[in-house]
Amino acid sequence: MYPLKVEIEDELDELVELLRDWRSGEELAARFGISRNAVWKKIQRLKEMGFEIEARKGKGYRVKYLPEFSVVSVLQAIKAAKAERIIRRVYYYTETDSTNNRAKNLDAGSLVIAERQLAGKGRLGREWLSEKGGLYFSIVLEPPLPIEDVPKITLAAGVAVADALLNFKARLKWPNDVLIDGKKVCGILSEISGEVERPKVIVGVGINVRNPVPDGAVNLASFGVTMEEVFREVVNSLVTRYVELCNGKWEKIRQRWIELADTIGKRVKVTAAGRTYVGKAIGLDLDGGLLLEVDGGIEKVYSGDCFYMVEGLKL
Ligand code: BTN
Repeated sequence: MYPLKVEIEDELDELVELLRDWRSGEELAARFGISRNAVWKKIQRLKEMGFEIEARKGKGYRVKYLPEFSVVSVLQAIKAAKAERIIRRVYYYTETDSTNNRAKNLDAGSLVIAERQLAGKGRLGREWLSEKGGLYFSIVLEPPLPIEDVPKITLAAGVAVADALLNFKARLKWPNDVLIDGKKVCGILSEISGEVERPKVIVGVGINVRNPVPDGAVNLASFGVTMEEVFREVVNSLVTRYVELCNGKWEKIRQRWIELADTIGKRVKVTAAGRTYVGKAIGLDLDGGLLLEVDGGIEKVYSGDCFYMVEGLKL
């Protein structure tokens, strides 16, 4: 399946806006400074993406049916967030293996989104179920940060999504699961590609909106929100936190992580770097590590798996 690739300056969203009324090919060509043939090509691309466009002699073109969520929604969200400098182009798939995989060889500034993933990837080699109705996207970033700061991008992304879903009482479970009522609504998978001196970071975000979810997970169906609304909030929040991080505001993000954390204060079992720690989560250290109180001492972990201990149960 090949994607619809759209550059921000393609103005495809404005074309759709104009096509709410009848527009002649000539008028559109003049408006965008392109040939009538180029207008026709853009219209064909929209049709491929599920837009129904009427064409009538003497009247021109008009949108008859607009999908609830489309590449136009993505472009609008990017523009509403004033994120054009960070996200410069969109690759929209109706179906692909994994947006993180598709993003791996792309330039920084690319956003890959799919309506459905056939091999969605979760953390630690797990599978991420990705049926239609959820949001599955990856952003390719080239952060002006040293490589050891890259994990902070993932923590910042968790904060961003939890803040975007604050109306639904979202909370964070270390390292970066977003929970609602103790159930997972969003997962984030960051991967590094490119060279060590100037690494590219792929931030992959999966949000359960209306898609069927596995046990222990939840979607947003009962809140009556649309994919478009969720995506718009999330993009805005992600870009805001990313810019903060790049501008040296990690401390602000760390404090917000702690405020939103569901994990802190809980007894946990964490497996990290081949070791297992059982203790109480007590904070997020200055460098982004989770602080654990274990047998009277303090341990710090940077990535791994975290389970909540049920009091009275031996794990
Ligand atoms: C987790 O295990 O919690 C992380 C899940 C990350 C899922 C997203 S969906 C978009 C992107 N593409 C993938 O294959 N995975 C991430």
